[in-house]
Amino acid sequence: MFGNTFGRLFRITCCGESYSGGFRKNLPIPEQLYGGLMTIVDGVPAGIKITAEMVQAELNKRRPGQTPLDSPRKEKDLVYIFSGVMENDLSTGAPIGMIIPNVDIQDEHIQQYRDYKDEVRPGHAEYGFFKKYGEFADWVGAGRASGRETASRVAGGAIAKAVLNKMGIDIVAYTIESHGIKANPVTYEQARANYRKNEINCPDLDAAEKMIADVLKIKDMGETSGGVTEVIIKGVPAGLGEPVFDKINALLAHAICSIGAIKGIEFGAGFEHARMLGSESNDETYLDKATGRIRFKTNNSGGILGGISNGEEIRIRCAVKPTPTISITQDTVNVAEMKDVKLQPITRRDPTLLSRIYPVVEAMCCCTILDAVFMAEAYWKVSKIDKKWLDI
Ligand SMILES: Cc1cc2nc3c(=O)[nH]c(=O)nc-3n(C[C@H](O)[C@H](O)[C@H](O)COP(=O)(O)O)c2cc1C
Repeated sequence: MFGNTFGRLFRITCCGESYSGGFRKNLPIPEQLYGGLMTIVDGVPAGIKITAEMVQAELNKRRPGQTPLDSPRKEKDLVYIFSGVMENDLSTGAPIGMIIPNVDIQDEHIQQYRDYKDEVRPGHAEYGFFKKYGEFADWVGAGRASGRETASRVAGGAIAKAVLNKMGIDIVAYTIESHGIKANPVTYEQARANYRKNEINCPDLDAAEKMIADVLKIKDMGETSGGVTEVIIKGVPAGLGEPVFDKINALLAHAICSIGAIKGIEFGAGFEHARMLGSESNDETYLDKATGRIRFKTNNSGGILGGISNGEEIRIRCAVKPTPTISITQDTVNVAEMKDVKLQPITRRDPTLLSRIYPVVEAMCCCTILDAVFMAEAYWKVSKIDKKWLDI
């Protein structure tokens, strides 16, 4: 399996599966070490305050079983930092290693997965895993394709966030649409003020109530639903991203589309551009007399032009599909017997992923932006351009 490292100068490497550790019994080591998730973060500058509590605060946003909108899986998602930080909580510059043990592993759930292990779950990752890893594919709880994998990204993102906060860069993600119910557009300030004020993390509080009632109805039907997560990246200096393959929008798309269940992404006005005239789509520039900086009257570009940040806020919307696991019988195929079968309803599931996916989107954006800052700073350090051009 390739592709478990993300980033160039600021890099996270993640491992761990949904139920890793679940098959090991009576080992002469603490149970926390039986299995779980791990993150190694490379490229952390020395002297940054990093505590387990800071990482835990991010993990707690994503943890399942907290609201009626989440799967009843009771993972504590407790993080242990085991390297890279001194007794004064300051990073040493060495890789930061973190583990998140799996603690909610019950034999009864492993048995459920065993019973259906040859049956492809519609909408989930099993079919691809069968074709790629054959008889060795991890059949318990979706393995690396489980939403549980995203906890290790959130741990890595928490470290990036600690560094970005020192630079005045803030990344906030929230729900703006659930199963067709739309929130009113929000400014960065409104999104921050109403951050996590309700179970679906929608800053439009009236729309949130409607969304939650709707999801609970959907849950009772044994169904699941999707929606749209929006993210604002505020305080980004102009000049991040490279003009060709490593455009900042391409890197962010890579980061966000690597999260399970994300099926679409738009920057700024996104697909609306397809319906606009040039004069409507273009963001006109002006000189901001107060700061002496060039600004844009509108932000249809979503803060990115030519693959390079322009100093305005970066705004991205992500389409999140309904959770594939549903409590309704579905048609599928048993790949061991090669015959059509009925997949029985599965009970442990999130009726929507919106209440748990936003911290993952934030984490992946944090890693991408910090990596791009490092790349830009390294380049500017040795380039000969006049410092008057630089925002950093
Ligand atoms: C935070 C998070 C939690 C998830 N929880 C579940 C879940 O409980 N059940 C499920 O079927 N899928 C869940 N998923 C979605 C699957 O991981 C994803 O749909 C699957 O891997 C197939 O990938 P694709 O949807 O990108 O094609 C979750 C995803 C995320 C990001």
